[in-house]
Amino acid sequence: MARILGIESSCDETAVAIIEDGRKVISNIVSSQMAKHALYGGVVPELAAREHLTAVEKVCNEALKTAGMTVEEVDAVAVTHAPGLVPALLVGLNFAKGLASAYNKPLIGINHFLAHIYGAFIEAEDLDFSDPALYPMAALVVSGGHTSIVIIHSDGNAEVIGTTIDDAAGEALDKGAKLLNLGYPGGPVIERLAKGGDGKRFHFPRSLTGTSGKGLDPANRFNFSFSGLKTALLYHAKKYAPDGNTEKIEGELLTDTLASYQEALTDVLCSKLFDAVKLYRAGSAVLCGGVACNSVLREKFEKKCPENVRCIIAPKKFCTDNAAMVAALAYHYYKAGQYSPLTLDALARLPKLTFVPFAEKK
Ligand code: KG4
Ligand code: ZN
Repeated sequence: MARILGIESSCDETAVAIIEDGRKVISNIVSSQMAKHALYGGVVPELAAREHLTAVEKVCNEALKTAGMTVEEVDAVAVTHAPGLVPALLVGLNFAKGLASAYNKPLIGINHFLAHIYGAFIEAEDLDFSDPALYPMAALVVSGGHTSIVIIHSDGNAEVIGTTIDDAAGEALDKGAKLLNLGYPGGPVIERLAKGGDGKRFHFPRSLTGTSGKGLDPANRFNFSFSGLKTALLYHAKKYAPDGNTEKIEGELLTDTLASYQEALTDVLCSKLFDAVKLYRAGSAVLCGGVACNSVLREKFEKKCPENVRCIIAPKKFCTDNAAMVAALAYHYYKAGQYSPLTLDALARLPKLTFVPFAEKK
């Protein structure tokens, strides 16, 4: 049995969790700075770093207290070291290094992007990574920083077959909400305000899906583009808003606008992922990342998933940034004795993912 303490500070959540054997949540604490950043309409890296610094020790103590454990009883310390905002990452990373060296525990650096994928597996108790029927997995990672499709093979080899060429899906929601002055973060606000709206009332573009009449370059079959969607929202708002003031859209017009915007975005995400499922003959389809909290997306994803493909949707609490996904993924590196040096760096970007440690070919 291994109990791993995980730390996450890549963006605006300070989180610490303790997970047993990659699956069982012993404690999972998340402290959000969202309200602080909302004043600026987005995450301010230096402010994020300062907030992490005041929160990290408190959050760690709370995670230990909830678990009824001391650091001595932990088997390893895992931490997100990339990708993310470097000033923010550095706080969690240095705190983790301090714990690992003071208590003589192995340090395990974690790729935040891969941790999001693993978030879908934490509480999927009957999921057996050695089951060949699961492979290849086709995973859709949708967050504020990422929109990618990853194919994971049974031997652990992985390929990112598509990614956004401009804005991420979460960014399109955040920027869309900002444009209409609805607040930050935009995803949850849009979901709430779009409820009950007519998603078919307005047509928003579904870029890179070959539906514009121009055809689709095969190189972009699994790529995404959301900047056009955002621009379309701006023109739409200018056209329909009283006096052209985009912040004045209200009532049914606002509800239907947001429902239609959300419809276009979720249509593109699902059509690309299930096109990949078909092409790669995937055994499972995985949905994860902050935007995966969205109920419209979750329902559409489940409905579109073919019967013979296992549908794995991350529980909402493991969709947005958390440390449970960090500590759980770290278990697989721990088992293999793959530790990181105390010189581990925080990086804004990582090379494309090519391998995952959890697939177990029999
Ligand atoms: O995974 P995450 O917490 O951080 C990143 O790694 O980026 O994702 C944050 C993103 C934000 O863009 C936020 O607007 C979006 O997830 N989000 C949602 C919902 N909740 C959070 N998007 C749509 N619907 C939601 N309910
Ligand atoms: Zn994230």
